[in-house]
Amino acid sequence: MKHLLSTRDLDRETAVGILDIAEDMALTADREVRKLPTLRGRTVVNLFFEDSTRTRLSFESAAKRLSADVITFSAKGSSVSKGESLKDTAQTLQAMGADAIVVRHHGSGAAHQLAHAGWIDAHVLNAGDGTHEHPTQALLDAFTMRQRRYGADSRGRDLSGMRVVIVGDIVHSRVARSNVWLLTTLGAEVHLVAPRTLLPAGVETWPVTVHEHLEPALALRPDVVMMLRIQQERMHAAFFPSGREYAREWGLTAERFAALGPDTMVMHPGPMNRGLEISSAAADSSASTVLAQVTNGVFIRMAVLYLLVAGSQEASA
Ligand code: NCD
Repeated sequence: MKHLLSTRDLDRETAVGILDIAEDMALTADREVRKLPTLRGRTVVNLFFEDSTRTRLSFESAAKRLSADVITFSAKGSSVSKGESLKDTAQTLQAMGADAIVVRHHGSGAAHQLAHAGWIDAHVLNAGDGTHEHPTQALLDAFTMRQRRYGADSRGRDLSGMRVVIVGDIVHSRVARSNVWLLTTLGAEVHLVAPRTLLPAGVETWPVTVHEHLEPALALRPDVVMMLRIQQERMHAAFFPSGREYAREWGLTAERFAALGPDTMVMHPGPMNRGLEISSAAADSSASTVLAQVTNGVFIRMAVLYLLVAGSQEASA
């Protein structure tokens, strides 16, 4: 594998393989020395055109644990704000010797363009492109589901038999898209819940069941309820009457949370709008995997960097 741009083109075997390598990476976290020498002498560049806290820190920490040299580049305060293009920025990074470029960009398709326009030879890892895809987020979500379901005995397994309900701002969510492709490839049954205004055009062609209301989906006793952030920064119109109305109809309120089964996992990719899509009662409960998702994100990104960068080194050696 040269790049990780999307979960759509991952087959079951490759996806399970990434989760298994992430499990090996997780074992190193308990060691006295957590660093592996795998990417020594290699350079990983984090190229962030959009704000990010956890994804940027997570990739940075993953690359450092593999002993790579890490350069983090935020568009704010750089020549990008002077109008420098993605192409010029990428070529500059390539000239500095980047082996892998982790890119987050507001344009859907930006990572694909970076990988395939012929500007650079580096491996490209999509850390979120517009409303399109966020593959490492879906992989860390799948890892977290598998870990909660099977514990230490999860190697080689997929998510067959699991029912996952994804709720909220689907139209703006690259997390939802990447999860739909990956979770269905891994055998899970996926349901989406959103007001009609927050559903993307063409959703009827996706391998999911769509609900306009939350209650009927929760009545299915899902194994996982994944709440999505309302992405106000991408909304240039009113998609629902008010925050209070949204929380009442589509939020995981304390009451709805209390009615979930005892083993239902509550997930959220972060950052959370508490009181809007999720109540603190749900977010801070033992059912919540919000912090486990952050921890697991580092292992998944280590696994992907290892596969792409070290894997290609071995192949060309
Ligand atoms: C997500 C993103 O940026 O797409 N967050 C993340 O990576 N942790 C989801 C979001 O911003 O709501």
